[in-house]
Amino acid sequence: HSKAAFIVVANRLPIDASVDEESGEVQWVRSPGGLVTALEPVLRDHHGTWIGWAGTTEATPGPVDSEGVRLLPVELSKDEVRAYYEGYSNASLWPLYHDAVEPSVFRRSWWKTYCEVNERFAEVCAAEAAEGAVVWIQDYQLQLVPAMLRERRPDLRIGFFLHIPFPPVELFMQLPQRRQILEGVLGADLIGFQRPLAAENFLKAVETVTEYEPKGHLITVDGRHVSADAFPISIDTEGNTSIASSARVTQRAKEIRAELGDPETLILGVDRLDYTKGIEQRLKAYRELLEDGSMSVPETVMVQVATPSRERVEQYRVLRHRVEREVGRINGDFGKVGLPAVHYLHQSYDRYELAALYRAADVMAVTPLRDGMNLVAKEYCAARIDDSGALLLSEFAGAAGELSGAYRVNPYDITQMKRRFMTAVTAPEEEKRERMEKMRSFLKEYNVDRWARGFLTALGVPESATDETR
Ligand code: UDP
Ligand code: G6P
Repeated sequence: HSKAAFIVVANRLPIDASVDEESGEVQWVRSPGGLVTALEPVLRDHHGTWIGWAGTTEATPGPVDSEGVRLLPVELSKDEVRAYYEGYSNASLWPLYHDAVEPSVFRRSWWKTYCEVNERFAEVCAAEAAEGAVVWIQDYQLQLVPAMLRERRPDLRIGFFLHIPFPPVELFMQLPQRRQILEGVLGADLIGFQRPLAAENFLKAVETVTEYEPKGHLITVDGRHVSADAFPISIDTEGNTSIASSARVTQRAKEIRAELGDPETLILGVDRLDYTKGIEQRLKAYRELLEDGSMSVPETVMVQVATPSRERVEQYRVLRHRVEREVGRINGDFGKVGLPAVHYLHQSYDRYELAALYRAADVMAVTPLRDGMNLVAKEYCAARIDDSGALLLSEFAGAAGELSGAYRVNPYDITQMKRRFMTAVTAPEEEKRERMEKMRSFLKEYNVDRWARGFLTALGVPESATDETR
């Protein structure tokens, strides 16, 4: 096997391995989340190697080839998953970077493992990269890798992209390892964020915490120029649209509506079951609308897909209990025999079923308390091939900076959210169409390919360098 000219390094591979109990064979399923959704088509176009964890500690499969992409698994032990992934990444960093909507937990032992695991990713990558290769490191789980990799391989072109928000400096200052984290990220040549505000927050943190002095978007680190800027991520718009227009999905969307009793209004939520997504606030608004009679079952129904996520992390368990109790309460109060008010699905769906749900839904409710981008909002628009439907979108989602045709909400303001729900339900078709058209034409242009090209060009990579024909 020859070394790679283009490498993506992420905590997760695009597919998770699991071992079949009977046969002992390794099976692969698609992994959750927006990072995978966005990078999959990019890697398919550019080829190259994807380095990441296979999502299990049962077995570490060898490298596999998947549609021309080489997947190179990094092994993590059970203890490492606990400390590096569930601990430091998802109980310390994740809440802190999302405006501390839940308190962060800090443990010194977690940090030690975070360093060790980042070290391992850097080692695997250093061994895989060809001379002068382009390496694109992803997200908050791997913030030390840029500097660790540069130390081993100064010949590489290194990019880093943060898929989640970067918090305001007052919050970031709470992080006990704030200096090490910034110095780790500054090992990259180019640092990308979802929104201009995140890039500004980062530059301010660098100025406050380190000895480096940013000038505009540039930081000089030991004579090297590092640039930090916004590159809002997107979706494979064409791919999503074509799946949504397929006969299979069209048929399935009709079936879904029929199975739900042909409601006048179908409200849809699709999220990982995460406390940043504002699922509880959304349910609260819906409950109150049922209570005051603005909405009623079976004319209106809600479908909430809540994909299992990070289930061993305490705050996620607590959230699951709270959400499920509230769903039970709403159904108990407002459901009828065979007609629940909320169809709650704690499951993961493939893109066909999701596209069918998007096409079936009259109102898509995306109400996070804080979200880097939110691809579900973009996928909903891409799926609305006849320009119908309404998107209710939190102003705290990165997507709100781009999807100007959405009905904007502040999820902390339940009264306003109720009003916006009603507006989205009752707005004239013509108005909704205009709004949807605007968002769809935006997404046609600003798709994920445009995102990747924008980032790689800013990293100084000529298009041919990551091309499969090389
Ligand atoms: N998704 C999926 N199956 C599900 C639920 C979600 O494939 O059952 C996908 C969804 O289509 C989207 C991604 O997961 O591409 C979620 O990305 P988003 O940016 O909305 O949120 P994240 O989970 O990354 O916080
Ligand atoms: C978000 C993060 C990703 C992560 C995904 C799914 O999109 O930005 O880095 O992969 O959520 O979460 P998980 O912990 O299951 O990988």
